[in-house]
Amino acid sequence: MRFVLKEELEVTKLLFDPMKHPDWIPPQSAEWHANLSIEGGGYKYPWNSVFDEPRAEKIFSDKIISFLHENVRILDVGCGHGEFTKTFVGKAKEVIGIDVIEGYISSANVGASETIKFLIVDADKQLPFTDDSFDIIYSKKGPWLFHTGNEEGHRILKPGGTALGLYHCGSDGGLRSLFPGLYHPLPDSYLGDIKAKYERQLSESNLEKIELQIFEEVEYLASPEDVLIKKCFGQKESLKNIVWQECLAEVGEIFYKHASPKGLRVVNYHALMVGRATRN
Ligand SMILES: C[S@@+](CC[C@H](N)C(=O)[O-])C[C@H]1O[C@@H](n2cnc3c(N)ncnc32)[C@H](O)[C@@H]1O
Repeated sequence: MRFVLKEELEVTKLLFDPMKHPDWIPPQSAEWHANLSIEGGGYKYPWNSVFDEPRAEKIFSDKIISFLHENVRILDVGCGHGEFTKTFVGKAKEVIGIDVIEGYISSANVGASETIKFLIVDADKQLPFTDDSFDIIYSKKGPWLFHTGNEEGHRILKPGGTALGLYHCGSDGGLRSLFPGLYHPLPDSYLGDIKAKYERQLSESNLEKIELQIFEEVEYLASPEDVLIKKCFGQKESLKNIVWQECLAEVGEIFYKHASPKGLRVVNYHALMVGRATRN
């Protein structure tokens, strides 16, 4: 067991680090998504929490809606199980969601209608759409089609069409210093680094920049278990059992010392990019 001496001379035990366990599956890897589609039933956050308004998803859906009219065709790249994609049914002519994970697309297709389609497509390969197919292409935490060297996004987005991306850039708000070992500190330059990264991504995308914002969303985790569920999102049950045994008692002590009646406050960082395909 190791101990760290914090600045305020409080001695804090380093908690068990599940990322060092051999069964840890790197988040966002193909194996991780495959496990989530089977054990988690879709790309759904499984922890209990409440949010301060506005939520990041609402900011993003409002932004997409501001570019919509009834004749537009929309593509959601990396749609997961399609819950967010379905927000736009009835607000556009056609909505298509694509994802490379078969299990997500099977869940998404439950209750799909004539104006919404979900297809198994690998966004890293040639896309099964004709030129100038879409007025709006967005990705919520999925592949961004406008990287240098990838012409597919530009090929299928109409000239003058809009590309939007929302990316979760990590969480903190004290979470990382409260649970050392289980969570790891972010560098002081973190927010500046994220801004620079997405500025670069947008400027390299051959899109005309409309907007880039880095914003914070405030969430309150309901219980000590939720601190562990968040950390172990997408991991196997066997590893979760180990983490619970190793950490739950100490996480509970820390949680109840710092939580408000709403729960334990966490800040989620997000990047929102909006660009326009330059007209021919
Ligand atoms: C972080 S999840 C987000 C899911 C959904 N957009 C949401 O916000 O709930 C990223 C999604 O991108 C998908 N994805 C990753 N690489 C992909 C690729 N090459 N082609 C298509 N989908 C991909 C994953 O399968 C996953 O569903």
